[in-house]
Amino acid sequence: MKALILVGGFGTRLRPLTFSCPKPCVEFCNKPIVCHQIEALAKVGVTEIVLAINYQPEMMRESIEKYAREYGVNIICSQETTPLGTAGPLALAKDILTRDNPEGSFFVLNSDIICDYPFQEMIDFHRAHGKEGTLVVFPVPDPSRYGVIVTNEANEILSFVEKPKEFISNKINAGLYLLKTSMIDRIEPKPTSIEREIFPVMAADRQLCAVTLKSFWMDIGIPKDYLAGTELYLAHLAKKNSQELIHGSKFAGNVMIDPTAEIEEGCIIGPNVCIGPNCKVKSGTRISNSVILAGTEINSHSWINGSIIGWKNKIGRWVRIEGLSVFGEDVVVKDEVFLNATIILPHKEIKDSEFAAGKILL
Ligand code: GTP
Repeated sequence: MKALILVGGFGTRLRPLTFSCPKPCVEFCNKPIVCHQIEALAKVGVTEIVLAINYQPEMMRESIEKYAREYGVNIICSQETTPLGTAGPLALAKDILTRDNPEGSFFVLNSDIICDYPFQEMIDFHRAHGKEGTLVVFPVPDPSRYGVIVTNEANEILSFVEKPKEFISNKINAGLYLLKTSMIDRIEPKPTSIEREIFPVMAADRQLCAVTLKSFWMDIGIPKDYLAGTELYLAHLAKKNSQELIHGSKFAGNVMIDPTAEIEEGCIIGPNVCIGPNCKVKSGTRISNSVILAGTEINSHSWINGSIIGWKNKIGRWVRIEGLSVFGEDVVVKDEVFLNATIILPHKEIKDSEFAAGKILL
């Protein structure tokens, strides 16, 4: 089978991380976000994956190639000259998606979705109903800030309603689709939204069915949800008794640490922490509900909570970082600085708390 992953967005809401790296290549739990999807697609027999790219194709290919080889899938880049939105890339890649595709269907994924991907369930459901498209929906407690999806008893999608004021459904679009190649004829190779322009027409023709996701789900395209997604994903690994989590006196709750990272004695790490390759954490440090990306060094007796520390940062001693702070690549924070809700762009040096806390540092 084939799949197309939409990786062409600019990822503005995940800045400053996306200043250094396209969003699909930012690591989530120590693996580029998009590689979680590639791994799950490979498990259900997908052998060819089209990356619908709009910018930085070399960087994307470089960070994904190693995983693609490991999972035995062929990656094909379909490059846009102008951003084609979420539907246009399907028309652009029509020849690749239809060539040698006896199944006659292909997956389409938004690249920033983390869940226990229900790909096999989608395949079974799609074959059973025989319509043009299957869309995964996720029930949320408060649907009023989303576009919701209304279905009938046969799971056919009847309509899409943007931010409903009165309750009509709690199901939102989970950003995972399985579509027949014939539906590509509905799309022109120009900037088009699949959610707003194509799916409503397919629903009106009763050609779109919904399957409900039963596991966790998170769109990790903003820092708050990236951290919430980390917590959900680690809890999911804990439930499966996964070897990827680490245990011991230094660790509290669900914690993932790359084997090349060094954590000194006297630290307490966790809960909900992920630490990337080649990081160094000195004694007496306390980290909770945070992600530390590759190559970062944190000196002794620092405190980090609810924050994302980018690649190759150097954090001093007695530093306190909290309140959804996000640091870009190669940031230096001097000793004893206090940073609350602070966004720091790449390659900055912070020496003083007073000028830093609660601000965006350019
Ligand atoms: P923000 O800039 O933070 O809104 O992120 P984004 O640009 O990724 O937008 P959004 O999260 O809404 O996009 C949903 C999915 O569609 C993501 O997987 C994007 O990579 C992808 N996407 C959005 N626009 C385009 C586009 O013009 N071309 C391609 N190929 N993919 C796109």
